[in-house]
Amino acid sequence: MDIRITDAELESAFAPAIRQEVTVDNPDWVKANTPAEKKSRLSPLKALRNYFSPRSESAVEDIYGERWSSQDALARLDPSQGKSIPLVWRNRQFFAHGKGTKRVQLLYLMRIIEALMPNRVLEIGSGMGQNLMMLAALFPETRFTGIELTQQYEAALALKAHPEFPPELVRFSPLPLRDLANWNQDPRRRERVAERQ
Ligand SMILES: C[S@@+](CC[C@H](N)C(=O)[O-])C[C@H]1O[C@@H](n2cnc3c(N)ncnc32)[C@H](O)[C@@H]1O
Repeated sequence: MDIRITDAELESAFAPAIRQEVTVDNPDWVKANTPAEKKSRLSPLKALRNYFSPRSESAVEDIYGERWSSQDALARLDPSQGKSIPLVWRNRQFFAHGKGTKRVQLLYLMRIIEALMPNRVLEIGSGMGQNLMMLAALFPETRFTGIELTQQYEAALALKAHPEFPPELVRFSPLPLRDLANWNQDPRRRERVAERQ
């Protein structure tokens, strides 16, 4: 499989999340990377449970089952808002919003799907379905399905029921979305799209 992602594409996927690029001796960077600071970012209870036990259904519900409305979920996608975390990319250090890494991850996923052009894709653990929606709007020929263990699927259904494709997702996508009209059509859309081409 031939996946081509240039440094410029990676940088532009990550760029909206960057608050500050710093040197290794920057006092804030040094402080953020002391063991005490790092530890305080993880709840000790969750960290212990994640380490020792396979995830039960109730553990997954505890970790991911927070109920947000689809509107809140969309608002949280703005990488220029909210808390930043210390992130390293190659030899560079950043304070950046975690959603920057999510955009990079999505860019890889999009390029993999572009290379494989599958008929169907199943996302296991699809959360609020945002990935599926962006992918459906980028690859109208592919049918995307998600399964989700927690109540987040309710937000996913609400998101899917939006009359128009949410602009927050258009902005969040690292690649321009192609088909904002057909993303939510019935399963036969693939045939219709194929006929049009
Ligand atoms: C890290 S989140 C990722 C959500 C989404 N895929 C995304 O990229 O935004 C992992 C998701 O997987 C779900 N999950 C974990 N174990 C699962 C299982 N066994 N079956 C279905 N969903 C599961 C969690 O509830 C959570 O929503």
